[in-house]
Amino acid sequence: MKFGPTGDPGMTRTQPLLFELDPTFTNRGTKAVTFRGKMDMPIHRWYRLTPSFSPALAEDIAKHFGLSATDLVLDPFSGVGTVPLCMKYRGIPACSVEINPYLHFVGTVKTRTYRAIEKIERYFTEFMKAFRNKLNAVPFEDRPALYLAEQAQHIPKINFPERWWSKGNLAQLVCLRKLLMERAETTETHDLLRMGALAILIPVSNAKHNHVSLTYAEKSLPTIDLAEVLEHQLQNMVADLHSVSDLPKSDVTIYSGNSKELSRVLPLRGRRVSSVITSPPYPNRFSYARETRPHLFFFDFIENAKAVGQLETDAIGGTWGKATSVLSTGVKPKNELIAKLLKPYIENIHNGGNLMAHYVTKYFNDLYDHAGEIAKVCEDRCRLAYVIGNSKFYDNPLPSDEILAGIFGHFGFALERIDKMRKRQSKSGLHEAVVFMKRG
Ligand SMILES: C[S@@+](CC[C@H](N)C(=O)[O-])C[C@H]1O[C@@H](n2cnc3c(N)ncnc32)[C@H](O)[C@@H]1O
Repeated sequence: MKFGPTGDPGMTRTQPLLFELDPTFTNRGTKAVTFRGKMDMPIHRWYRLTPSFSPALAEDIAKHFGLSATDLVLDPFSGVGTVPLCMKYRGIPACSVEINPYLHFVGTVKTRTYRAIEKIERYFTEFMKAFRNKLNAVPFEDRPALYLAEQAQHIPKINFPERWWSKGNLAQLVCLRKLLMERAETTETHDLLRMGALAILIPVSNAKHNHVSLTYAEKSLPTIDLAEVLEHQLQNMVADLHSVSDLPKSDVTIYSGNSKELSRVLPLRGRRVSSVITSPPYPNRFSYARETRPHLFFFDFIENAKAVGQLETDAIGGTWGKATSVLSTGVKPKNELIAKLLKPYIENIHNGGNLMAHYVTKYFNDLYDHAGEIAKVCEDRCRLAYVIGNSKFYDNPLPSDEILAGIFGHFGFALERIDKMRKRQSKSGLHEAVVFMKRG
């Protein structure tokens, strides 16, 4: 397994060669667009976020823009940090912004530079020994309910934890969580260990990735040896760190914050962004907060269900829990531009249901605020690549890519082209596209 889409040593170059062909962005295969392209790649594979894009896509956009070490790339919707991680090992300075505190943690841990890998390995080995010792005293095979009742205050504060994990697995997770929380360390190595624990939460759960969103499996997962699963994960992580240790690296930073307030979140100190490579949430009602609940609660990245509702409401495309109540009170286009861009579509959506029409309106109102902030942080000749999927509401198509281009056009970003990358299988007429725009 090599770093880079095809193990291409080009990963280590920062300048494109003259004979290199410009990558194509139309009719791409699934692995060249979606999360599937990262599941066998070092570091990228540490956590599966289904609506995240392929490293090959970030790499190809960087090549197409001819980016080098003098650029500054921004991803305002960082997700699991695919763009900054790719830029780091191309030697291109980059930063990103993420609103979800768990995803912010994932991006941060994945993009740090780790030097003393042997020391990390020893730390992991020592931890696994301590964990196995603790597990010896946990009756997770025969009396997990008893242990869980005794340790009630250490169970993650997610609703119905026993729906997520069978009792025997939950008992082992609680033991792991206690041990990691007791250490109360703030070192980068300890964060890696926490990343390892977070990475196994879904594989040892009753949830499955059968759809874009997680769903509960019909049959709960039987009790398994959790230490073995964790050890395997940690071994993979160490192998991944070794595999990138010789590559050149640039500095990348993941900021925690809201991309509707970019100019406040980014401490650019006079520097300006030269390229934006990103993928905002699509207007398809996928909820990042809902999807990451087990992780948000496992290490108390978030306080309680109310805070998850607030996260969802603040995010672009928020649709779940409190965000739905906000939508039900009604949302108007924030100005004439949004009203004009939505006019051909919104009435049909209203006919299907007001809630969805409000959802779509809020989504593009938010994108407008975001685009205004991009205009503040970008340099004069900045180039943008926005990856977005179109949608259908009550069978009415919504060309999100074209509407997005219309909003950015208002802020002085000219549309270069919209490349349809792939059809989305589940529903006909849906595609994912990359919208290329340029300032000036
Ligand atoms: C399509 S995903 C990006 C995936 C990313 N390209 C990757 O490969 O991991 C969109 C991300 O935007 C984040 N997000 C949503 N609203 C945001 C906002 N207002 N500010 C910053 N991040 C936001 C979501 O939490 C989610 O992680």
